[in-house]
Parts: sequence; C-alpha cells; structure tokens
Amino acid sequence: MLRINASSRIGDFIDTSADTARLLTMLGANRKEHRSQTLGEFCAESGIDGSMLLDALLTPQPSPIDQTINWSAEPLSRLIDYIVARHHGFVRRQLLRLQLLIDRVCNTDGNRLFELRAIHEAFARVRIELQEHLVTEEEVLFPLIRGLQHYSDHRGGFMGTVDRPLSQAGQHVDEAGANLSRLRARIADFTSVGSEPGTYQTFLAELSGLEEDLKYHFALENDVLFPRALKLEQELMKV
Ligand SMILES: [Fe+2]
Ligand SMILES: [Fe+2]
Repeated sequence: MLRINASSRIGDFIDTSADTARLLTMLGANRKEHRSQTLGEFCAESGIDGSMLLDALLTPQPSPIDQTINWSAEPLSRLIDYIVARHHGFVRRQLLRLQLLIDRVCNTDGNRLFELRAIHEAFARVRIELQEHLVTEEEVLFPLIRGLQHYSDHRGGFMGTVDRPLSQAGQHVDEAGANLSRLRARIADFTSVGSEPGTYQTFLAELSGLEEDLKYHFALENDVLFPRALKLEQELMKV
C-alpha cells in the first residue's frame, strides 16, 4: 500500500478514495496541475493549515453505526471502547474537515461577508467545546467508569465516584449543544454564500453529518452508559 505523508503528491491523495478527492476538490485542488504538487506546496499556495489537512486526510472514515448491538447488556468497558473508537473518532475527524472547509470559505469571502466571519467564529467555539468534552470523558469520566466495572468484577481497585465528573461532562455537552444550535440558527438565516458555494454546501452537509452522529453518540452516553454507571456505583456503595 502506498505510504501517504506531507511529501506525497496531491494526485496520490486524490487516488486513495472518493471521500478524500471530494475534500481536496472543495479546498481548491481542482486543477490538473494540482496533482503533481506536494501537499505542502498546495497548502502553502492556498493558505491552508498543512498539518490540519494531513490529519484530516489520514484519519480513516469510521465504520457505519452498528444498531444491532444491545448496549444495555454489554460490559461498560466495551461500550466505552465503542464510543471512543466510533463516535469520538468521528467527531474529531469531522471537526477537522469542517474547520478546513469553513476556513476556505472565509478566507475567500470573509472580509466581504460579515456573516461568514460570525459563522466562522461560532464554529470555532463549538469545535473547542466538543474537543474539551471528549477529553473530559476520555481522561476523567471513562476511566472512573472502567474502575467501577473493574471493582464490580474483581472487588478491588476502585477509587472515587463518577458523580461529580458526570455533572461536569454534562455541562460541556450543554455548552457545545447550545452553541451548535446557535450556529444552525445563524446558518439558516444566511443564504449568500459568496464565491465558494460548493465548499459552503459541503460544510453544511458535513455539519449535518456531525449533528446526526452526535444524536446517537449522546443518546448512548446519556441514556445507556451514564445511567448504568451511576446504578452500578449505587449498588457498590450499598455493599
Ligand atoms: Fe462522548
Ligand atoms: Fe458526551
């Protein structure tokens, strides 16, 4: 398999998948001569953040959501593994792609269209909040839940409670969710897309994809994982 890195040519990236080709086209790599440019050359010429684009291109497309598994009956650690791999992976990939797309639209028309700059800023807030939320879960909350599960299985090694980190994680969700709603409201009122209509439409489509995935993601956490973790903790405290 061809090894892809920052020195690879745009044509090599385009040939890896239709998804990759579409993103590069929407970022302006749409002429024949772009194929022979390295990624670094293309980014320098286009004013694109090269390391962000490389990350976006190298992050694999996640598998479809598996709705056949009954997560109420699976071990909590397996559910956490699934959420991190499938949903957190998707959020991170999607945020990179969205940032690149809105940067492109804003760099082209942002000085002329005030509303585009406002959308750009609103998206930056959503992006930071979602990233912080993922880190809180992965570094604080999920390890505590794994500890609960381990304690329950082996009767040893559990320290602490999920109660406070759980409410902290909830706050992050509220902030990110509220800002995502505000962003959608702004976008609904904004019809003039300037000189990059295809890129702006792709931004909207990718944003819808993120929202759709977040519904499953948050439902798995709020309706299954967190209630099960709190119930388990309450049971353990009675022992
Ligand atoms: Fe999450
Ligand atoms: Fe979450």
